[in-house]
Order: sequence, then C-alpha cells, then structure tokens
Amino acid sequence: MQLVAQGQLDMEGALTARDRVGIQDFVLLDETTETAFLSNLNKRFSKDLIYTYIGTLLVSVNPYKQLDIYNKKQMDLYMGVNFFELPPHIYALADNAYHTMLTEFNNHFILISGESGAGKTEASKKILQYYAVSCPSTTLLNTVRDKMLKSNPVLEAFGNAKTLKNDNSSRFGKYMDIQFDSQGDAVGGHILNYLLEKSRVVHQNHGERNFHIFYQLVEGGEDDLLRQLGLERDCQHYNYLTQGECAIVSSINDKNDWKTVKNALQVIDIDEINTDYLFGIVASVLHLGNVQFESDGKNHALLNNNTELHWVSNLLGVDAHSLQEGLTYRKIEAQKDQVLSPFTIDHAIYARDALAKAIYGQTFTWLVNRINESMENKARRSVCNKSQSESGEDDFITLICLFFFCQDSSRKTVIGLLDIYGFEVFYVNSFEQFCINYCNEKLQQLFIQLTLKAEQEEYEAEDIEWEPVQFFNNKIICDLVEERHRGIISLLDEECLRPGDATDLTFLERMEEKMGNHPHFVTHKLADKTTRKTLERGDFRLLHYAGEVTYCVVGFLDKNNDLLYRNIKDLMCQSKNAIVRKCFTNMDPDSRRRPETVATQFKSSLLKLTEILMAKEAWYIRCLKSNESKQPGQFDEALIRHQVKYLGLMEHLRVRRAGFAYRRKYEVFLKRYKPLCPATWPHWRGMPADGVEVLVQHLGYLPNEYKMGRTKIFIRHPRTLYATEDAYEKCKHELATRLQAKYKGYKAKGEFRKQKEAATKIETCWRGVQARKERERRAWAVKVIKKFIKGYMTRGQAKITDNSEYLAFVRQNYLNRLKENLPKTVLDKTTWMSPPAVLTETSEILRKLHYRLMVRKYVRGIAPQKKAQLQLKLVTSSIFKGKKESYPQSVAQPFVDTRISEQDINVRVLQIIRNEHIKYSVPVIKYDRNGFKPRPRQVILTQAAAYVVEEAKIKQRVLYTFLKGISVSNLTDGMIVFHITCEDPKEKGDLVMQCDHLFEFLTKLSVIANKQNTIKVVQGSIKIEIQAGKESAVDFSTGQEPMVYKAKNGHLMVVSLVL
Ligand SMILES: Nc1ncnc2c1ncn2[C@@H]1O[C@H](COP(=O)(O)OP(=O)(O)OP(=O)(O)O)[C@@H](O)[C@H]1O
Ligand SMILES: [Mg+2]
Repeated sequence: MQLVAQGQLDMEGALTARDRVGIQDFVLLDETTETAFLSNLNKRFSKDLIYTYIGTLLVSVNPYKQLDIYNKKQMDLYMGVNFFELPPHIYALADNAYHTMLTEFNNHFILISGESGAGKTEASKKILQYYAVSCPSTTLLNTVRDKMLKSNPVLEAFGNAKTLKNDNSSRFGKYMDIQFDSQGDAVGGHILNYLLEKSRVVHQNHGERNFHIFYQLVEGGEDDLLRQLGLERDCQHYNYLTQGECAIVSSINDKNDWKTVKNALQVIDIDEINTDYLFGIVASVLHLGNVQFESDGKNHALLNNNTELHWVSNLLGVDAHSLQEGLTYRKIEAQKDQVLSPFTIDHAIYARDALAKAIYGQTFTWLVNRINESMENKARRSVCNKSQSESGEDDFITLICLFFFCQDSSRKTVIGLLDIYGFEVFYVNSFEQFCINYCNEKLQQLFIQLTLKAEQEEYEAEDIEWEPVQFFNNKIICDLVEERHRGIISLLDEECLRPGDATDLTFLERMEEKMGNHPHFVTHKLADKTTRKTLERGDFRLLHYAGEVTYCVVGFLDKNNDLLYRNIKDLMCQSKNAIVRKCFTNMDPDSRRRPETVATQFKSSLLKLTEILMAKEAWYIRCLKSNESKQPGQFDEALIRHQVKYLGLMEHLRVRRAGFAYRRKYEVFLKRYKPLCPATWPHWRGMPADGVEVLVQHLGYLPNEYKMGRTKIFIRHPRTLYATEDAYEKCKHELATRLQAKYKGYKAKGEFRKQKEAATKIETCWRGVQARKERERRAWAVKVIKKFIKGYMTRGQAKITDNSEYLAFVRQNYLNRLKENLPKTVLDKTTWMSPPAVLTETSEILRKLHYRLMVRKYVRGIAPQKKAQLQLKLVTSSIFKGKKESYPQSVAQPFVDTRISEQDINVRVLQIIRNEHIKYSVPVIKYDRNGFKPRPRQVILTQAAAYVVEEAKIKQRVLYTFLKGISVSNLTDGMIVFHITCEDPKEKGDLVMQCDHLFEFLTKLSVIANKQNTIKVVQGSIKIEIQAGKESAVDFSTGQEPMVYKAKNGHLMVVSLVL
C-alpha cells in the first residue's frame, strides 16, 4: 500500500535495529513454541531488556536491580511516539494509553498482573511517574500530581509488608483512577482499596514482617514522639513485630522511609492533629499487642493495672476501665438485661487481636478516604475558568476540538491503574491467601474474557474466518469459589452464619460434601493415595489457574466473620481519637443487621471492580518474576515457564498472531479517518461499511492487511493502523490549518467590515464637516461677491460702507498690478496702466513720481561726458526741435569732440591759429559765391572765429562778432548759411556750406560763439549776400534725389529727400 510504505519502511528499519537482542514483539517470533518464547525472553533479560511485547501487551520480567531506563530522557523519548517505533517500554504503553484516551475520548485501564514480587507495584509507580512528568502541567495541577505520587509511600507504609515472596508486598488491592481533562492535564485521582490483609497486624509467618509503618515509627520516629506514644525504640519489644523474627531487613531502610512518609502525609493534606491521631493508633496497636492476660484460676482472663492497657486507653482516648472490661468480658444482652460474661485467656487474646485488626483496618480505610479527598478533582472549576480566560488561540483550539470531537473541554476521561496483590503460595496458606488468589483468579478471568475469549467470539460474530485457539478458561475455578449457594464462599458464609457449633472443620466437611468431585478441589479425604501424602487433614487444595495451593482451613470462619465484640465497638465509638471515633461510627451504621462476611464483601467488591474495568479499554502488563531469591541476573527458567503458562501468554500470542491487532466499528473508523479520503470527507452518505471500504481502498490497504466484518473493520498489523493514524495526524493539522485560515479570514473580514464601517462613518462625519465648511464658505463668498458687486456698482460714488471694501480691493489690486507693470524706461510713455476712477489722481501722482524717479535714476547714472553731450543735445533741441525735418534722426546720433583730428589739419594752418584754442573741426562742402561751385573745405572753430581752410590755406576767417546770423532750411538737407556782416564789397559775403554733421556743427558753434539765438530755420529759401550789395538766394525743395545745383534764376537750388 502506498500510504504506509514509507512509514512501514521507517518502522521496520527501526525494528530490525532493535532486533539485535532477540525479538521485541513475540508476534514476530518464527515459531510460537514455549521454548522459543522463553529463549527470547532469556536472551533479552540477559541484556537487561526486561520488556517485550505481545502485540500491545507488555511482558515485563523483574530484573531485581535498578536499570537506567526510567529517567527523564527516556520519558521524553517515548512521549507521543507510536507504540512500535521505539524499543518496548512501560512508558510506550503508558503513553499509548494516554494518547488513545485523548484522541478517542474514552476511559482506559492498565491491568498489571503477575504473582507476588513480579513487579506490579513498581510498574504502576513507573506509570504514575511517567504521567506526572509527561502530561501538560500547571501549578495547580502539579499539586494534584504530587498528591498522587505521594499517596504511594503512605499507602505502601500502611498496606505493604515484607513477605517471603516480596520485601515490599502489597497486602491490599489498589485500583487508582487518574482523571484527565480534555487537554490531557491530570486533574484528579481516586483510589479504591481492596481487602487489607489485617491478620498480619497480629500475626506474621516466619520470615515475614508486619506492615512497614510499625517498624518505620519505632526505628525512625523522633524521640519526643516515641515518648509521647509510650514506645521504645526497639522492635523486639513488641509482640506484634517479632513473630516473623525478621524485624530488621537489609533491603528496607525504615528510618528513611519514615521521613518519606512523614513528608508525604503533609503533601496529602493530613494535618498535624490527624497525624498525631494516626500515629497514636499505630502505637496503640503495638501496645495492644503487648497486653498480656493473667488467669484468675478459673481460666478467666484478668487484666490488672496493665501499663500497656493504659497507653492504649490513653492513645485511643477511651476509658481504661471500659477497655479492660471490653477485653476481658463479653456483654450479653438477654432481653433487657446486660450480662457480663468473662473471657477465657484465649478469648481475651482473640478480642484483643480483633480490636487491633479492626483499628488498623479501619484506619487504613480512613487513610484511603483522606487521600481521595485530597486528590479530588478540585481543579475542575479553575480549569474551566482557565480555558475561558485564555487567549483567542486557545479558544480556537477548543473550537477545533469541538469540531472534531464534539467534546466539551470540562469532560474528564480516566486511566485506571490496577495494582493488586499477586498470586501467592506459602508453606501455610490461610484465608488471606484464599482471597488474594481468588482475586487473581478473577483478574485472569477478566483477562481471558477481554482478550482470548472475547476476541475469538468477536471473530465468529463478525464472520471473520478464524482458526480457534485453545486456551484454559479458569471460569470453572472462579465458579468453584464464588458460585451462589454452591461456591466455597457461600459455604463458608453458611457455616459462619448457621447456628450451632460451626467450626473450620465442619466447613471443610461441607466443602467435601458439596464439591467432592470437582476437578479443581481436593482434600485429604478426597485425595488419592499419593496426593493425600501432601495434604494435612485440615487442608483443602485448589487447583488455581496459576498452580496448586493448599489452604489450611484453620481460622477461616473467624477471619470471615471478622467479629468485634459489641461493647468494644461501642467503646471505640466514644473514642477521643477523632480517627477512631469516625471509623467506628461509620463502620456499621445498621447495628441490628449482621454485617456481610469478609469473603462476601470481597466478592462483591471484586464484582464491582470487574464492572468498572469492563467499561473501559484495557491495556495489559504481565509481570514475571525472574527468580524466587530476588537476585538480579537470575533467569529461573522453570519458574518463568510456569508463569508464562498460567498467565496464558502463549495462547495470547497465538491469538494475536492469528488475529487482527485492531478493530473498530465502521461508524467509529469512518468518523475518525474520513478526512483522509475525498470521497468520504466531509460526509459519507451511504452505508458506513461501504464508506470504510472506499476509504481503505483509497488508503491503499492490501487485501491481506484487513478484513471487513459484519459491523467492524479488522486490521491485521499495528503498523497499518499507525500509518493511517500518522496520515490522520498530518491531515488533522492540515484541516486545522484550513479551518484556522477560514476562521482567520472570517475574523479578518469581520474586522475589515468593522473598519470599513468605521471609515465610512468617519468619512460621513468628515464630509459633513467639510460640507458645512463649504456651505459657510459659500455663504461667505456670496456675501463677499454681493459686496463686491455692490461695491462695483457704487464704485463711482464717494466712499460708503457698500463700496469701501471694493474700493480698497480695487485700489490694492490696481497698485499690485501697477507694481508689476511699471514702465521700464523714461521714454516709455505708453505702458502706464490706466487707473480706476478712484485712483486717477493717485495714478497721476504716482506716474509723475515714477518718472521723476526714473529720471533721477537715469540722471544719476549719466557720466560727465554724456552729460555734456546731452547738454549739447539739449541746445540742439532748443534750436531745431520741431523746425528742421532731419532733426529727429539726429537725436540718436551722438556728438563727437571733433570730426577732424589735429593731425589731419595742415601744420601751417595750425601754426597760424596756434594761439587760438581749436574747439571743433568738421569737413564741409563750400559753395562758391560766384557760380556756387562746391569746394571741399575744413571748418575749424576756435574760441574767437571760424576758419574755412583749404589744405594749408586759410580761405576765410569769420570772427564770431561778424557772424550776424546762421540760416538752415527746414528740410532734410545739410545746407548752412553763415550771414556775415560785410560792409566792404571786397570782403567775402555770406558763406554757403553743406555739412553732413549739421546739428553737431551748429550746436558746437552756437555754444562756442554763444549764437543760439542767431540760428534760424527757414522755409522756402534763404537770402544770401554774396558781397556787400550783391544778393542771391538758396532755394530749398524736396525731390526724389538730393541735389544741389545752380538754378536758372541764379539761386542755389537744394533738393532734399522727403522723409
Ligand atoms: N522494574 C524494576 N526494576 C527494578 N526492580 C524491580 C522492578 N520491578 C520490581 N522490582 C523489584 O522487585 C520488588 C518487588 O516488586 P513489586 O513490589 O512491584 O512486586 P509486586 O508484583 O507488586 O508484588 P506483590 O504482589 O507482592 O505486591 C521490588 O521491591 C523491587 O525491588
Ligand atoms: Mg505490589
């Protein structure tokens, strides 16, 4: 099968590795013979491998030495690991029971069986320790655990004793329920105790001891305590401790154990007062044992001034006299009278011992009850609270649990641990052994019923092909003991209850009568010759499942009656010792009815136990005793073979090998594993069996690995199941993850929706706020606009409230814009923004200011030369502006200092006018006075005169004083006429010239000669005086081409271009 292939490989790999020493699971043995079985056991035992499986049953061989396999590391190793993945161990079984309980939510019990000394109690302690360490814990639960663990030393001190078979033999039966909550926390415990071997209090066989507590108190008790209790530190001093002649045993350390017990008593909540009472009782028993009777000569018992008696009365808090009376007289109620009948010494001893046994037995029960109270599951409420208050994750886990298992977290499941006295055979066996062995017989019966018989019946019922395995069914022995009206117990009760002289021997006879030919019953009388030799007359022998046991019938009736005389009982009910008082008051509430006999009580308690166990799933530990001498390393093959045989291990193995390791009802199997197959998950709509078939096909089970019964599926190998379980575990996590994801998604969506709603709400509010603001703004805007419009409309009016703001705005606006758009140059007269009406005046002022500012800036920025030049230009302007057409073009042309440098003036000329400072020179065209012939000349202006020069010749000198006027035309020509005063006809008359730099020339001249006012701009023609009395004229006109020529009228004609 594909699914398990890998797991199988892993597992088998591990198995072979561990197979080096024998075989770990007997099921894998090649042959199922007893020899092979023992050889494997021996092989493993020799290597200290004391555990071996038969399927899920654990076989344990007592090593009688401490092995290093019970440490924390080992516990961790086995925690949560599949059964067959690690070498066999008691932890594996404990862990598997625990996890099955958690996953399947049902109750379990671990049946630990084996004969006395085989290691049952040790095994149960190991299991308890494992749970204490491996289960999840909280402080609160830790105390419950401590109590569970600490109950052990206390119960062992009071209920265990050294026997010939075992130095720490359980002399009571113990069934302990460990309660777990659904999280797997151990939350409480409860103990049921079964028949304490009380006779041990007053009598021990040779080589045996009384209950440990007596020795612990005497050996370990503090001096003060012993003094208070009137005890001596010497076990030999006490009759009840010395009969076995082995008060001190090397394997037992009473002193240390005392400390452990004292400490444990505190842990299990037994306070100081009760502890005092408890030890008072223990001490009183020891004192009672030392109470000796004297004879009064008539064979009546006497008890005079006995110190031991006083200690007893003192410790038990009862009246000494009444106690004395109770121990030496019997109170007989005859009609309404009470008669005291004296005891013989034997009777008195009997009464004394009965009291000692009763006190001790009752105290033991009280102790168990106190332990139960202290271990009671008080954690429940707090556990519930815890699960409520813890984080969301935990809630989620609970949810998942509910989802998977429909389980509420406060529900408890239990694992029961049954550790009861083992089967035992002594040299002399009495009523106690009879009860103990009967108990073991019952447990064997239970084992058979739950395994062999039930298993085979189940195969039949389920129609599974099956080869029946023969096994010995011990029901026949159980019936022999317990059958109503016919069984040994019934006969014993009859003898106890019948009037007349019933004795142990009459009981024996009754048995011989009733069960004379029972194959498992034999007495001296019934036996054949050879057997008879091994039997005394007062013996009867039972052929138990575990072997023959010969019981001595002496004491059976008394022990079964377990009578305590009424007056003693009443006395105890008045005890000042609270424990005694409580025990005896509770003991027998209905005093008129005769109490049930011990055997009957025991029988019914075993019946109840069987019912308790039958309702749970069973796990088995079969303990084997390796040798009788309690020696490590000794493998007594005969002894072990015997145990293997009677424990039915071979049969169990055969059934296991032939059978199926695991079976489940179809519904249960399907419910658990349906997530593993898409066809069955989440629901299978058809018949469960069909669903299972589909499921296992999907999982790839091979045909020989499983069988389909009527109502159940049977799986042959554990490994198949483990692989399925592993897959389920994996899948469960995946499903949980999916659920978690869905749930997280769901939560996140919810969260998102909430956030979105919140956001929308905030948004709405915010929008509201915004809208209100907007509305306010608009209302404000309307007001402002209204005002603006009104202002606009009344802008022309004087300042009123309606327009004041508008006007201010207009003003500000205008000024702002004006600021950005000011004219950049002085000459720019156009860009000044036209002002609104209210600012006309202001604008004008500003404009002027601005221009002045610009002018000032400009003026400040002008260099002196430029300034001089501009001053000249100003002169030019004053003369020509608006008069001569070519003036505007000239404005932009700068004036220069001179047009002819001194180098270009002839030296001779310079020499002539050396004394006069040359101010300016310019080339001109001079027109002759006669004929107007043009001649190029230089005109040099000095301070006093203007010289007309031709090369080295000064052609004419015009003194400024004689220059009476200067005329130019209004057109664009460059003609200049100097009007010169000329009175002498020989002198040259007016000078006519043409100069390209007319404005520059005339400006300079006017400044030098101060002639501004003499320059005339003439329209039409200029009259000239050629020489004194001879006149002509220069006429001006405009044309296409500039020309200068002598016109026919004798005038000089100057044509200039039209601009
Ligand atoms: N796993 C073990 N490791 C070491 N020693 C062990 C182990 N099991 C048992 N023993 C030894 O064997 C002794 C007897 O064991 P235990 O008391 O468990 O027997 P029992 O089966 O309970 O007998 P009984 O029926 O008399 O009560 C122990 O005191 C201990 O010394
Ligand atoms: Mg025991």
